[in-house]
Amino acid sequence: MAGLVKSDTEDFIDWWPHTVFYQIYPRSFKDSNGDGIGDLKGITSKLRYLADTGITATWLSPIFQSPMVDFGYDISDYKAIQPEYGTMQDFEELIDTAFELGIKVILDFVPNHSSDQHEWFKKSAAKEPGYEDFYVWHDGILQENGTRVPPNNWPSVFYGSAWEWHEGRQQYYLHQFTKEQPDLNYRNPRVVQAMDDVLLFWLKKGVAGFRIDAVNHLFEDESLKDEPLSGKTADSLSYDYTKHIYSRDLPEVLEMIHHWRQLLDDFSAKHPERPTRIMMTEAYGGLTQLADYYEDSNGVRGSHLPFNFHFITDVKGDSDARDYVYNVEKWLIYMPRGHAANWVMGNHDNPRVASRFGPASVDAMNMLLLTLPGVAVTYNGEELGMVDYRELSWEDTVDPPARNVGEEHYKEVSRDPVRTPFQWSNATNAGFSTATKTWLPVHPNYLELNLEAQKAAKRSHYQVYKDLLELRKSGIMRVGRFNIEPLSRWVFAFKRSYPNFESIITVINVSDQEQLVDLSEFLSQPKKLVVEVAGVDSKYQTGQPLAASALLLAAREGLVCRLV
Ligand code: GLC
Repeated sequence: MAGLVKSDTEDFIDWWPHTVFYQIYPRSFKDSNGDGIGDLKGITSKLRYLADTGITATWLSPIFQSPMVDFGYDISDYKAIQPEYGTMQDFEELIDTAFELGIKVILDFVPNHSSDQHEWFKKSAAKEPGYEDFYVWHDGILQENGTRVPPNNWPSVFYGSAWEWHEGRQQYYLHQFTKEQPDLNYRNPRVVQAMDDVLLFWLKKGVAGFRIDAVNHLFEDESLKDEPLSGKTADSLSYDYTKHIYSRDLPEVLEMIHHWRQLLDDFSAKHPERPTRIMMTEAYGGLTQLADYYEDSNGVRGSHLPFNFHFITDVKGDSDARDYVYNVEKWLIYMPRGHAANWVMGNHDNPRVASRFGPASVDAMNMLLLTLPGVAVTYNGEELGMVDYRELSWEDTVDPPARNVGEEHYKEVSRDPVRTPFQWSNATNAGFSTATKTWLPVHPNYLELNLEAQKAAKRSHYQVYKDLLELRKSGIMRVGRFNIEPLSRWVFAFKRSYPNFESIITVINVSDQEQLVDLSEFLSQPKKLVVEVAGVDSKYQTGQPLAASALLLAAREGLVCRLV
């Protein structure tokens, strides 16, 4: 029975393998001083909300000093708080309050690039001793006609050449994202050292670890050769133009991950007064690559949680039951044994669940996310089923890749619609801010869609979400064995079971039609099926017994049941 009763060790040392990580986008969460921009005091004031919901860990998108070209992913001082977000004291208060409420705080660590306003970049551009090679510099190629062109054909993720000419230094520098985000040179041990200092600085402040941004971009092939063309587009400025074999996913990335894992493990060993420090890594990569991030073929452990983005990238509104089952199984098959699976349902870079799968799918997708084994990652607002503000105008658009492609195409790439302010209530600006203008407009649906309304309603997405978090506290959700099957083309089910414990069954209809399914063979037990959590519009009630042999599910309906 070991492991079924939550022990103190599990809470402290092994706290992370069963946790829900709630991503806060600080700029849009809660504004405490009326300037239209979310801030740290705002977050602190809402930590009680997280705790009441049942959240025990949060990761914050960047809160560091930044010119905000990429809204904090361009850092000009890794050890300072962005003034519009607050002060270091505000941060310390946030950490203390979180600790008191039992919430672990994970910070966003952006190692691939700094801001061009960082003093390292200024020093490097000026060739100050010790900083010459902090970034990736190159003379470029002098053509016969005397014009100078970038050293190769690499495009930036955000459109345009990945190289920018620097007048001062008379050289090109590499930037895999915007030109204001120069790539740091990880082949330079001084850079590695400087970043270790950054990590230790925040670890000493009591953070529980880091989400490591764009980790697969850290290294480039030293030859800086042209990349082969992908054949996907004729537009040489588009990121899809080349196959990124020299600028992404290099083997050296894994060495850096191992290095940072060691740093975290050493720190945890030396400072056992706080829970184990962990890392989550961001890389949109293949299964084998991400499996290696967990643990390589020599058994060296790396990232605690290499983000699994497959619910974002590999299933869509029209995917059928087989697609979902395959999506789940493939991760579990490739993940090395003894690690925690993780499932990311959304983030600040991708459309929201209600917009990807349709608003009717919100509860079913939260049921899926929260009853699978392992770690779940929720982007703020998904507990309410917030919707992308797709109508956001060109004038209000601020996201750099959207600005880069221009007015005609901005909607195809803009991330602004998923970053609009959190909808707390039906008050001005959805209760997010008292400003006359917020940094991004509030989605106009806030009058009906907001937390306050969902708390007051008899049934709501928020209450479903909260019930699911409550259910996760039971032992079966931590150690239950897992199996999943398609019951038909449109309905799949999975089971968490353990000897002598009541099993938990999740059944999901991913079609737009009502579906009748027979669960008896899947359950293979003559036990009674009882509803544990039902969606907002469900005709079923918690506690209601169900006939396993003929279960009727409404369009996009999910149900979480117990076998008693
Ligand atoms: C990551 C972040 C994204 C950012 C990019 C560059 O993908 O999630 O928001 O723009 O890295 O730092």
